[in-house]
Parts: sequence; C-alpha cells; structure tokens
Amino acid sequence: MDTSLREAAREFLIRYGGDTFPNLFRSARGSVVVDDTGREILDFTSGQMCATIGHNHPAIVRAVHEAGEKAYHMFSGMIPEVVAQLARTMAQDWMPAGLTKSIFINTGSESNEVALRMAKMYTGGFEVLAVGGSWHGVTGGVSATSFASDRKGYGVHVPGVYVMPEPNTYRPYIKGLEGEASALACLEIGLKMYDMASTGRRAAIIIEPVISAGGVLVPPASYMRTLRKAADDRGMLLIFDEAQTAFGRIAERHASDFFGVVPDIMTVSKTMGGGLPLAATVTTPRIEADVHAKGFTYYTSHVSDPLPAMVGLAVLETIRKEHLLERARTTGAYMRQRFLELQSRYEQIGDVRGLGMLLGVELVKDRESREPYHQLGALTTQKCFQLGLSMNIRRRPERGSVWRIAPPLTTTHDEIDRGIEILDRALRESLDEIARSHAAASAAHNVLSA
Ligand SMILES: Cc1ncc(COP(=O)(O)O)c(C=O)c1O
Repeated sequence: MDTSLREAAREFLIRYGGDTFPNLFRSARGSVVVDDTGREILDFTSGQMCATIGHNHPAIVRAVHEAGEKAYHMFSGMIPEVVAQLARTMAQDWMPAGLTKSIFINTGSESNEVALRMAKMYTGGFEVLAVGGSWHGVTGGVSATSFASDRKGYGVHVPGVYVMPEPNTYRPYIKGLEGEASALACLEIGLKMYDMASTGRRAAIIIEPVISAGGVLVPPASYMRTLRKAADDRGMLLIFDEAQTAFGRIAERHASDFFGVVPDIMTVSKTMGGGLPLAATVTTPRIEADVHAKGFTYYTSHVSDPLPAMVGLAVLETIRKEHLLERARTTGAYMRQRFLELQSRYEQIGDVRGLGMLLGVELVKDRESREPYHQLGALTTQKCFQLGLSMNIRRRPERGSVWRIAPPLTTTHDEIDRGIEILDRALRESLDEIARSHAAASAAHNVLSA
C-alpha cells in the first residue's frame, strides 16, 4: 500500500460532503471493490447506485474500447451514429408508449435541469412542485427542488419551488393514519397548500417514483395516479426522475411500468451508464416540437457524446441478454427474504421496504416507538465495512436511519448470504458495544451520585 496516496488525498482533495472511507480504492469488478490494501469488499450500493450490471462488466469494457477505436467525443452539432442508435433503442424497447424523444447528457442533475427547462418553456410557467425527502441533484435549478440534500449556505434558491410532505407510510406525518390513507392525505394537503400559494404560473411536478434519499419510500399506486391527475388538472407537466429506478433496479424497465402511470418527461441517469456518466431526458414528440419551436437549447460540451452512448447501448443490451429484469425479481425476492429473517431476530430492524433490488431497511430503538436509531446505524455501517461490506446509510433526524441496499443486479445468492452474515455479526457486535457503553456510563453516574 502506498500510504503517501492517502496523505495526498487528505492534502489535495476538496471534501465534497458525505462520509468518505479512510482507505483509498484500487479496482472494482462485479459486486466487489478492492481497496488500497488489496482487501475485497462487497459493494451493496453498486458504486453510487450506478453499476447495476456489475462493476466493469466485459460488455462495458468492450464498449469503451470500441469507442476508443471510433470516437470518444465530437462537436455537439455532429450527431454520432451510435447516439441515433441509442435514441431508437430507448424509444422502441425501453420507454413507455409515447415517450420517444431523447437527449443524452451526462449526469442525473443535468437530466433534471433539462426536464425543468423544457417544462418551463412548454407551459410558459415557472412553478415547480416537488416532494419532501427528494434528491434531484446539486446543480442550480434542481438543487432548489431537492429536499433531502443540505440547502443551507448557498444563497437564494431558484424561486417558484414548492414542497409537499413525502408519502412516508412507515413514519406518517399525520398521526393516526397508516399506509395508503396517510400517503394520499399528504398529497391532498400538499396540493391544497400549493394551490393556496401558487401565482398561477405553473410548470411541473417532479418526483422520484421511489423516494430514495428520503428513505426508500414507495408510494402506493393510487398516489401516483392522483399525482398524474393533479398535474393534468393544473396544466403542469409530470416529471419522473428515474435515476435510480430505471433499467432493472426495481425489476421492471422503470417505475412508470410498475405504477402504470406515464409521465410527460422521464429522466434517467445512474443506471443507464453502468458507472460511466450518461443520462437522458425523454419526452413526447409534441412537447419536443413545441419547445423546439420556442428556441429550446441545452447545448453542452458533452451532449450527444459517442463514448457514453456506446456504453449505454452495451448496458441496455446486457440487461436484455442476461435477463436482468427477471434476475432482479428473483434475487430481489431472495434478498428481501434474508432481510426479513434478520428482522425477525432484531427488534431494531423496524421496517424492510423497497422494490426489486432497491431496499430500505430502517433502524429503530424499538418497534413500538419507531424512534430512529442513528447510533446503531452509524456503528453497524462502520463495522460492516471493517468486515468487508459497503453499505449506504441515510441518517436525517427527521426521517430516521435507513440503510439503502442496492447491490448490482448480477449479485449472486452466495454474495447476498455473505452480506447478510456480515450484517448479522455487525449488528450483534454493535448492540453489544452500545449496551456495554451504556452500562459503563450508568456505573460512572452511580459512583458520582453516591
Ligand atoms: C433520484 C436522483 N436524481 C438525481 C440525482 C442526481 O444525479 P447526479 O449525481 O448524477 O447528478 C440523484 C443522485 O443521487 C438521484 O438519486
């Protein structure tokens, strides 16, 4: 191990938020990443929720090589053949009926910027209604619509953004209401508040169909249908941000298929590039023609670049050839079953939720109070890493302590078993450690007060 590199990371990198591991990392393949000591770690987050077909899948490696033989980048006014091919594949095989026009850019944030710019130009309005706990990215326009990220310290957000309470059926905002009723009540109240505040210049409603950073919340289908109607009634466009849910993660093509609700604009990103920066905004020919006539631009250095498009095609082809939607269904059911077993042994696992290979596991002090157990979440996550499992935990005082479990769709049952074994041990050891520290603290207290 080259310790000077850890030193260099500390000295020369800007810290960009979130927890970073003390180790550096060297390589990644399939469901495993390797750190700077050569240690293998199971990756239950697919990198940053991107590597759904596994890290460095041979098809991606081949695509990058092929792009190297042909072209990585071109003048944005030259549409590469492979970009036309990807647009056709998306329209014919992957998108809901009607959504046939795509633009290819690089990040999820960008895909949502495109969507909001289109919605504003199409409607002539500017108001955007978003959902609590959402994460649509960090760039100027979309950070205003993100409520799971830190909003403080960056000055004035884009005006005209309104927020509704998220449909958290485990931790309902409205006491006494459970499940679907609580989700629909949140929507009803959210819409009423919005209508009260609106200036009438409405543009869009934006939602992650599974609110991931907000705690992997899956709204009931009736919520999505009501949201569709709410957008139509108000002349607003409905935007589904499917950064995490598209292309197999939830064992469907996307959440639009799962809910049976078609948005006006769908954005896709993370899971499309399999780890390379590729994103798309997809809409109907009518909306595209309308905004084009009004002078729509989203001209960037890397719009329509051939390298990521080549990779995107390889990812979509791999999902089809390796039957990864079906695999996500069976492996996802197996993974959920293993977590439910763990839940039956640990009072502190309050809820296991999610779809397919995207699970949220919420930690609580006890199931009765549902009080979030942040200390246990942090300690167990740390121990898991030491034992060879990387997981992501979302900890917000107001929203609980939730593990986001999203391994590659190619993860084997053996790897899931290994992950569960590590988690089991980490949970046991963390609970013992917390109990010991409480016992020591109360002994010290008794001595002082004696
Ligand atoms: C649902 C969702 N939308 C958008 C984004 C932003 O994507 P990016 O980080 O690629 O800009 C994320 C990133 O976590 C996300 O989870």
